[in-house]
Amino acid sequence: MKSLIAALLLLLGVTASVEASHNGLALTPPLGWNSWERFRCNLDCDVDPENCVSERLYAEMAKVIATEGYKEAGYEYVCMDDCWMSTARDAQGRLQPDPKRFPSGLKNLTDYIHSLGLKFGLYQSMGLYTCQKYPGIWGHIDIDAQTYAEWGIDLVKMDTCYNLGKEQMAEGYINMSKALNSSGRPILFSCEWAHESAPNFTQIAEYCNSFRDYADIQDSWVQILKIVDWFAENQAVLYNASGPGGYNDADFIIAGDFSLSTTQAKSQFALYTMITSQLFLSSDLRTLDPEAKAIVLNPEILAVNQDKLGKMGQRIYKDSSFEIWTKELVGNSYAAVFFSRAIDMPHNRTTTMKALGFPDASGYSVRDLFARKDLGFFEPEKILSVIVDPSGVVVIKATPKTKVKKGFHGNNNKSVIKH
Ligand SMILES: *[C@@H]1O[C@H](CO)[C@@H](O)[C@H](O)[C@H]1NC(C)=O
Ligand SMILES: *[C@@H]1O[C@H](CO)[C@@H](O)[C@H](O)[C@H]1NC(C)=O
Ligand SMILES: *[C@@H]1O[C@H](CO)[C@@H](O)[C@H](O)[C@H]1NC(C)=O
Ligand SMILES: *[C@@H]1O[C@H](CO)[C@@H](O)[C@H](O)[C@H]1NC(C)=O
Ligand SMILES: *[C@@H]1O[C@H](CO)[C@@H](O)[C@H](O)[C@H]1NC(C)=O
Ligand SMILES: *[C@@H]1O[C@H](CO)[C@@H](O)[C@H](O)[C@H]1NC(C)=O
Ligand SMILES: *[C@@H]1O[C@H](CO)[C@@H](O)[C@H](O)[C@H]1NC(C)=O
Repeated sequence: MKSLIAALLLLLGVTASVEASHNGLALTPPLGWNSWERFRCNLDCDVDPENCVSERLYAEMAKVIATEGYKEAGYEYVCMDDCWMSTARDAQGRLQPDPKRFPSGLKNLTDYIHSLGLKFGLYQSMGLYTCQKYPGIWGHIDIDAQTYAEWGIDLVKMDTCYNLGKEQMAEGYINMSKALNSSGRPILFSCEWAHESAPNFTQIAEYCNSFRDYADIQDSWVQILKIVDWFAENQAVLYNASGPGGYNDADFIIAGDFSLSTTQAKSQFALYTMITSQLFLSSDLRTLDPEAKAIVLNPEILAVNQDKLGKMGQRIYKDSSFEIWTKELVGNSYAAVFFSRAIDMPHNRTTTMKALGFPDASGYSVRDLFARKDLGFFEPEKILSVIVDPSGVVVIKATPKTKVKKGFHGNNNKSVIKH
């Protein structure tokens, strides 16, 4: 029946709705903010009321997102991570927020965040406890899904701490996906299911709207390089599994935190865009510096991340200090990122549209997306040279001269088959 409907919709040219996962969410990579990387499990509201995990933190961050340009750029999910809960469930077995730090209750906070035109997410673990030892979901899947829906929650991030083994955990994720569906509320399901050996990403993408695949990010450039390498090394499998309805999650964007230079912050943002990861900022947006803000609000880079085709980019070239990533976009356009791991000086790198694998025989108009500058028209073998700084990127978009018919969404038929 499902494939019959899919075939029918395909005939009508309605591909986007067919590609949607079970709940119709995450047609493009989810965009939002999460407290974890920046605020962790700061519980000390007496000493540090502005930065502790409390209703004040989420309400203040939501206000900034709604009023200072983030919402307009597409950031919509405001998310709690671990440590929001009370250590005990209530008499009916339901979760409750910590009463001291969330005195108004979650329904109230959700209503406020919704009133700003934003969505609200929370965190749980598919185990006996969360990573910080708050109540896990184990044995409470249905009641928790129901409670989240009653509170008006829009996203659930599911960790794997204190799980009871690979098979049990997989069953739990599948049951939770179904329980969220049964709740009747469309709730984006953000999974960390893949934290195990040899996960089946095709299966995960059937039940989850995004999937964390690798170790946590830290406030560390070195950790970003490890994450990027992991995605490159697994790109063949992830390319097939991800797409509209289910995207990679390379963990948080840390522009504006403490460890990255502006050059490195641009690189993380560009590389995560090529990984076609969901983008969740985890910084203090109340005091974000203008350089970091300009990076995460760059509309042309965000458009590459949010491209409706939903394809993952691929690392197509790597030597000891230099990489090239390319990503196919709607309308037969492409993005490329030239990334330098050099530790000495800026380097002049040259390539051609043909060498990048961009197939249009008449060539492409090329634009530098961070410089926000057109670089000219490039026939297939015309040399394009870019100067790439140490830890830096140059990001280009290549648009063909030949306009494609309206309604053509590229060759993404695999998702139609998958769902
Ligand atoms: C539940 O799943 C069905 C079938 O895939 C889908 O049509 C429906 O929109 C889903 N509902 C929710 C609330 O996710
Ligand atoms: C809910 O939040 C509003 C402010 O957003 C506050 O005025 C109100 O008292 C809160 N209600 C409860 C029950 O705490
Ligand atoms: C998943 O749901 C099935 C059917 O209700 C149930 O038999 C099974 O115990 C559940 N497993 C987990 C881990 O929740
Ligand atoms: C992975 O999951 C998909 C979808 O559930 C299934 O068709 C496929 O057989 C699985 N692959 C393996 C190797 O288990
Ligand atoms: C990805 O899908 C293509 C087309 O179905 C298939 O040929 C290829 O083997 C798959 N790659 C991996 C790594 O699964
Ligand atoms: C980079 O190298 C190319 C090819 O050798 C050359 O045409 C171009 O002028 C160089 N650019 C800079 C800024 O040195
Ligand atoms: C998608 O698949 C259908 C049926 O196999 C085919 O006719 C169509 O050309 C494909 N579309 C694209 C964009 O490849």
